[in-house]
Amino acid sequence: MSRLVVVSNRIADPRKPAAGGLAVALGETLKKTGGLWFGWSGKTVPDGMPGEGKLNVHTAGTVTLAELDLAEEDVDAYYRGYSNGVLWPVFHYRLDLAHLESGYLSGYRRVNRLFARKLAPLLREDDLIWIHDYHLIPLAAELRAMGCANRIGFFLHIPLPPQQILAAIPSHEWLMRALFAYDLVGFQSEADLLNFSHYVQAEATAEPVGVSQFRAFNSTVQAGTFPIGIDVDEFRRLGQAREARDTYDTTCKEYSRRRLLIGVDRLDYSKGLPQRIRAFGELLREYPENRHSATLLQVASPSREDVDAYVDIQHELESLCGAINGNYGDLDWMPVRYIHRIIARRRLPGLYRACDVALVTPLRDGMNLVAKEFVVAQDESDPGVLVLSRFAGAAEQLKDALLVNPYDIPGTAQAIQRALQMPLEERRARHAALLENICRYDVHWWCRQFLETLAEIR
Ligand code: ADP
Ligand code: G6P
Repeated sequence: MSRLVVVSNRIADPRKPAAGGLAVALGETLKKTGGLWFGWSGKTVPDGMPGEGKLNVHTAGTVTLAELDLAEEDVDAYYRGYSNGVLWPVFHYRLDLAHLESGYLSGYRRVNRLFARKLAPLLREDDLIWIHDYHLIPLAAELRAMGCANRIGFFLHIPLPPQQILAAIPSHEWLMRALFAYDLVGFQSEADLLNFSHYVQAEATAEPVGVSQFRAFNSTVQAGTFPIGIDVDEFRRLGQAREARDTYDTTCKEYSRRRLLIGVDRLDYSKGLPQRIRAFGELLREYPENRHSATLLQVASPSREDVDAYVDIQHELESLCGAINGNYGDLDWMPVRYIHRIIARRRLPGLYRACDVALVTPLRDGMNLVAKEFVVAQDESDPGVLVLSRFAGAAEQLKDALLVNPYDIPGTAQAIQRALQMPLEERRARHAALLENICRYDVHWWCRQFLETLAEIR
């Protein structure tokens, strides 16, 4: 059996709560498979030399964690600059927020080279290497240049935009060429894979060789769709534990006689939070029977606060919540409860279960695991309703949710109203269908499917 080596920018510290699909999913996966997890420690060395970093290797259960400290200048260019100021907005279809003219690319390349230099000595000949997400697209090419002949797979956790959007990145060709250094490239959805296929056809003057084999830049790569899932059993276990049950009880007690709606997100402009709050305001305006009754609990954890666009979205959200509470709230009822914090994972299932409706309405999302967690946490005999954006990767799988266009505020308000009024029988039928899909395609299925495909490639 080959050892699994996972590489990602963010690695989960078992001692701290994590918000973010990647860290949560990989943490669950590695607990099962064991192996080496290599990534950024999250720490910055203020006067460190660019391109240099200190590696700290330690063991946590079955997993060896190799955590790399980075120089402040590198974090600035590679993480805040290129990854989150260029790739994240463009890959989420937001050219308006991208700093395309910036000079961050050299820092991005420098840190990818540093990752390769520090990782290479830890590798064994038959390791299966699995690299994750947009921070590390060129890592395989760097490893290959150093002579690494291992199987290397790549999984993109975020969407891949259409070629016309991608091509706005000045170095798009270099970036896409870098994908061809992998043996297998995985995407979240068919839409992403289709965008990849169109890109290859349009930009690289090459043709797909087979259903999932693409040839360009004088090389071939296999690409496929591997929708990520959650650890259903683990989440259920959490739901049965004391903290989740206590959270359920206190939430039900505090909001008795109210209809509860919930949103749980990182505070990110891709999550459609202002649109969601506006849709909730529209619900109160258009369907006044919900006043003094419907309450939206919006938990939004701080994220990437040193990137400008994230500061702007926070201010916008605060002012929108304040306006709705001012306009509609009363002495005994606050329409929006906005919590700018991470909620302990152990409490999440209880919170989800206490809610009638989940609003998962990103403008664009690779997958969205909150949608899946909400469904799993429900009481099957009296389940809540999932309102889901058609622009989340999850919408390809979760067709029994109430699918909405989050840009359409009245349409979303209407769907929320429908969710609040949905008869028990319909709720049960939709929930059962959603749950079946989520259980079948859980995080272990995702991991197995990807690694087996990678191992079988000749
Ligand atoms: P993303 O990866 O873009 O953050 P996902 O919905 O795929 O979005 O994954 C988010 C993960 O982080 C989920 O497991 C969710 O439970 C967790 N999470 C997000 N926001 C919070 C929060 N405010 N408090 C606790 N956990 C959170
Ligand atoms: C998304 C990305 C991950 C990232 C996470 C949290 O899920 O796909 O790569 O780790 O957001 O963001 P952060 O910048 O805090 O790692």
